[in-house]
Amino acid sequence: MITAEENEFLTRVGPGTPGGELLRRYWHPVALAQDLSDEQPTKFVRLLGEDLVLFKDKSGRYGLIQDHCAHRGASLLYGRVEERGIACAYHGWLYDTSGSCLECPAEPAGSMFHLTVKARAYPVQHHVGMYWAYLGPQPTPEIPHYDLWSRRDGTRRIYKQPPLDCNFLQPMENSVDPAHLQILHQDSVGNHQRQHVPGRPIERRVAPSTTRGFTDDVESFDFIEVPYGIMNRRVFKDGRVDEHPLIFPNVLRVGSATQIRVPVDDTHTQVFIVHFDATPDGSIPPDSGDPPCTYIEPYKTPVDALHPVARFQMEETQAQDHMAWETQGPIVDRTIERLATTDRGVVMLRAMYLREIERMQRGEDPKGVQRDPNHEIIDTNYDETMRHMDAHPALGR
Ligand code: FES
Ligand SMILES: [Fe+2]
Repeated sequence: MITAEENEFLTRVGPGTPGGELLRRYWHPVALAQDLSDEQPTKFVRLLGEDLVLFKDKSGRYGLIQDHCAHRGASLLYGRVEERGIACAYHGWLYDTSGSCLECPAEPAGSMFHLTVKARAYPVQHHVGMYWAYLGPQPTPEIPHYDLWSRRDGTRRIYKQPPLDCNFLQPMENSVDPAHLQILHQDSVGNHQRQHVPGRPIERRVAPSTTRGFTDDVESFDFIEVPYGIMNRRVFKDGRVDEHPLIFPNVLRVGSATQIRVPVDDTHTQVFIVHFDATPDGSIPPDSGDPPCTYIEPYKTPVDALHPVARFQMEETQAQDHMAWETQGPIVDRTIERLATTDRGVVMLRAMYLREIERMQRGEDPKGVQRDPNHEIIDTNYDETMRHMDAHPALGR
């Protein structure tokens, strides 16, 4: 349980909020590569509570600029992209990717007025099949070389989850809550047989009770701070060990996937998933450009309704998680929760956010910020996880 003020402190993501300023120290994916094309060169983006327009100009440069034109507010989503940038459809004010205004065409000849106009604009990178944005102070850090995003000995697939109508901290707290797998997911990944024989179909087990699910499979849970986040360690009674890390501040790696929980605003989150499949022999496949991208179908009907109007399907693991996160509320009221021993990871994560906010406020880089463009690939223990999962698919790819 925390106070209402602490809950605000941890969950608000807009400009000027402590949590929002922390999240602005990191790059965030905002769109799939296929979302921009010559026919559709602009896309509306809301990130960290800011309304923005992603665009590609005719010189091939990417930009992310405030939605409302600096003149009188028409949306730049309808701007015309040109060689030099994007021109507002209303009166033609032309902006480059840095937000500088290059021309105000209806002003008198020789006017220098445009030099006084500046739109809010942010750097964009095209990386692993997505466009990434950085909304923080200069200088820009690097997108970290996490193994699943950077290794070359394999192939990647990208998935875009349906919109998640709640605050980003709810899925992040779930990422340090391994006890839920054996209960919430007892009818999906939690019920696989304990020892899988390669080549045989996965056999499903029946839980001894729906209350306990497969809780009694587990001996212990541990939460270990690592340089890039928190390693969840689940030890089963039959000796298996499952490790899956939370990558600070907003990524979960589980199995061969990273789930990137991008805060759209205080009560909406967009999850992008990057899957990595290593080649069995360590060979490096030819570079085939952007990985294939898939949009995942909504988990609820009506698709834009909130609990209790929305009804979630409960067959798939991800749908079960979306149900749990959204029905906690747009921002869960943490003043009335009852934390128990299995919530140790949740407490640890909250303390980590607070500590890293303080570090940022002292002018230091918070956890996970990378400045060296040539830093080594960051090993999140992927190979070890895959060795376990090949023998024990119950851990869930
Ligand atoms: S509102 Fe954009 S140029 Fe006038
Ligand atoms: Fe889950």
